[in-house]
Amino acid sequence: MRRAMLNAARRASDLLAPPHRPSTATSLPTGEVKTLAVESMFDRISGRYDLVNRLMTFGLDIPWRRRSVRALALPPGSVVVDLACGTGDFCEILARSGHRVIGIDRSAGMLEVASARLRDHPLTRYGYQPVLLRSDGTELPLRTASADGLTCGFALRNFTDLPSVIDEMARVLRPGGRLALLEVSVPSSPIARLGNAIWFNRCVPLLGRLLSDPDAYSYLPRSVEYLPDPPGLAQMLTEAGFATVCRRTLLAGSAQLVTATRVGMPPGPSGSQA
Ligand SMILES: C[S@@+](CC[C@H](N)C(=O)[O-])C[C@H]1O[C@@H](n2cnc3c(N)ncnc32)[C@H](O)[C@@H]1O
Repeated sequence: MRRAMLNAARRASDLLAPPHRPSTATSLPTGEVKTLAVESMFDRISGRYDLVNRLMTFGLDIPWRRRSVRALALPPGSVVVDLACGTGDFCEILARSGHRVIGIDRSAGMLEVASARLRDHPLTRYGYQPVLLRSDGTELPLRTASADGLTCGFALRNFTDLPSVIDEMARVLRPGGRLALLEVSVPSSPIARLGNAIWFNRCVPLLGRLLSDPDAYSYLPRSVEYLPDPPGLAQMLTEAGFATVCRRTLLAGSAQLVTATRVGMPPGPSGSQA
């Protein structure tokens, strides 16, 4: 009996990672291997991505996305880039808010689903069809200071070179342009952290096995290890040229919404800030 209780306590403490531990991700891919593995994983799971995503977040991702778009606080008609747009959830909500939307993603499979979903959407009748482009987050095919806003949902941990992607976000946003990053997070309260760990480390891989791709949905919870901690992310944003960085936690800290405003002028050829 005592041994059973000790084992149960040990299993619980295994699940309880510290809220923001530094990456010890020895088994997680890095560099070019990560870039290609992430691309082919999203190509594979694109068909079932929306279904599993809704179940995984209890459908809460939709209100969180709407909240992110509201947090941009931009007037209708603004040019908003959705980086790593996936199957187009953010693109659709942005277009419904009257924005001119450019969705960008590296995965051809995800873009195909986004394109099929947005092609016949009633929004197209009103001229609000998002433009979809295939590109890597480190090389956005957009002019400097050409966007009023940028959203990025659940993608930060999938980038191989996050600081370079954040530099690109800063480059394409005009001074005063707004950024909204929606991402998973690790709760700081031990109870919430345990619940979050059980759901993401045990239940989500099971959902993935039943409905989609087992490897992908055991990778996704582990990919949290790639995320910088909140001060680290805030520092990256500040160094790239953002100010008023604000972080709100969602669902007891299992997700986060980070907003920021682009300041000054984008770096010139000499790299100097005006
Ligand atoms: C978890 S999905 C999120 C999709 C969508 N933003 C959402 O909120 O549902 C991560 C997305 O990031 C994209 N992605 C990963 N690495 C990328 C990169 N280097 N450049 C552009 N997109 C990338 C993937 O193809 C995938 O569509």
